[in-house]
Amino acid sequence: MSNAAAPATEGPDRTGGPLHVAIIMDGNGRWAAARGLPRAEGHRRGVEALRRVVRAAHELGVLYLTIFSFSSENWSRPATEIGDLFGLLRRFIRNDLASLHRDGVRVRVIGEREGLEGDICVLLNEAEELTKANTKLNLVVAFNYGSRQEIANAARRLAREVAEGKRDPASIDADAIGQYLDAPDIPDPDLIIRTSGEQRLSNFLMWQAAYSELVFVPIHWPEGAPFRRSGRENRIVTEGEAAPAAAAEPGSRNLLLRVVVALVLAPLAIAIAYAGGWLWAGLVTLGAIGLYVEWLTIVGAAGEMRVVASGVVALGLAGLCLATGRIDAALVVFVAGLVVVALITPARRIWTATGFFYAAAAEIASVLVRLDSVKGFAALILVLLVVWVTDIGGYFAGRGIGGPKLWPRVSPKKTWAGAIGGFVASLIVAAGFYAPSRRALLEARTRATIGIGRNALGRLAIRRSV
Ligand code: FPP
Repeated sequence: MSNAAAPATEGPDRTGGPLHVAIIMDGNGRWAAARGLPRAEGHRRGVEALRRVVRAAHELGVLYLTIFSFSSENWSRPATEIGDLFGLLRRFIRNDLASLHRDGVRVRVIGEREGLEGDICVLLNEAEELTKANTKLNLVVAFNYGSRQEIANAARRLAREVAEGKRDPASIDADAIGQYLDAPDIPDPDLIIRTSGEQRLSNFLMWQAAYSELVFVPIHWPEGAPFRRSGRENRIVTEGEAAPAAAAEPGSRNLLLRVVVALVLAPLAIAIAYAGGWLWAGLVTLGAIGLYVEWLTIVGAAGEMRVVASGVVALGLAGLCLATGRIDAALVVFVAGLVVVALITPARRIWTATGFFYAAAAEIASVLVRLDSVKGFAALILVLLVVWVTDIGGYFAGRGIGGPKLWPRVSPKKTWAGAIGGFVASLIVAAGFYAPSRRALLEARTRATIGIGRNALGRLAIRRSV
């Protein structure tokens, strides 16, 4: 990075906003500690915040986004934490590279490669190589980076050229040093943001920051995007300087949008539910697929294409059976889908299978209610009742007993006690719900048997008398 002019790019209209934003993503550890979570969880949430910020930068027309993801000083952290940070980088490149590339993001890496594990270097090279022709947003990852080391490297190279007689010492000026920094073609940052309240640069882009605006925002990095465009002023504001009125803008816009969407979609959905048939089965199937994919995203399995595809295909097939009135076939697909999803999930199979179970059960119950009003209504009520009672049972058991957390990444407050309490409560209610209907079924069967018997005796009596 130097004061060099930006290369020609074709991005969104920036309307005078900053060309280059650099961020010190600080506060992952404090964010996690405040919630009783491990530091690794803070870093993992930090990667999620990074995804949001890359999207926001793109939408805001920022052309260069530099992130401080691992500093030369981070080597002094415990080995397990270093392992976590490296693991996150590996996963980030493996999971997100394709979508970054699709969105036209060019990945650049600054910092020392020497001393890094071989596979990390391969991944970093791969990311740079694959995206090198992209022009929409440059994501500059400062990895194993330290500004003093970068300047020292530039000085060493210049000194070597002087020693070899290739350069006149008088030619060494600020521009010459700038040309020997890690990314001389990238313009200096217009804005450097540091989250979590600390007001220093910590060896980040010290040369390049000569004329940068420095903004220190009080939020911890995992809490979200530290900058956004102000609708009224059409410029980028950071959270620290956001005026209360401006801060309310996106929320109220979202609310209005949601109300309009609900007003348009709700009557449409009601009309389709009323019409029933293929349309209703199709809508319900789409909803079930959305539910399943959302669940996979929450449990971190949305990247497992085989799990996504097999569940979506099974839900689609079940929808097809339901549309043609084949409830039995839909149930067979339901069970088969459940088994396949559980078997092909590499890890956390119980969670992906639960997601499929929820989506498929809701799908079948919602269509059944149109095909057989009594059974369908009973199935819907059962699903609603079980969900309701699970939540209530879970809440009281969790509050009363507490204990270790179940899965902080997905639901920070849920405990094992709450989960077990909710499950037991739902079992009791389901059994209670099932028992009377079973009794009614037995009664109906007995009455039918007696009726058939009476009928047969009646016929015999008639025959005798003829
Ligand atoms: C500072 O938080 C943050 C870091 C040391 C690294 C930030 C890394 C990520 C967000 C994820 C890795 C990045 C990529 C590109 C995958 P801290 O631990 O110093 O927080 P604290 O000051 O509150 O302890």
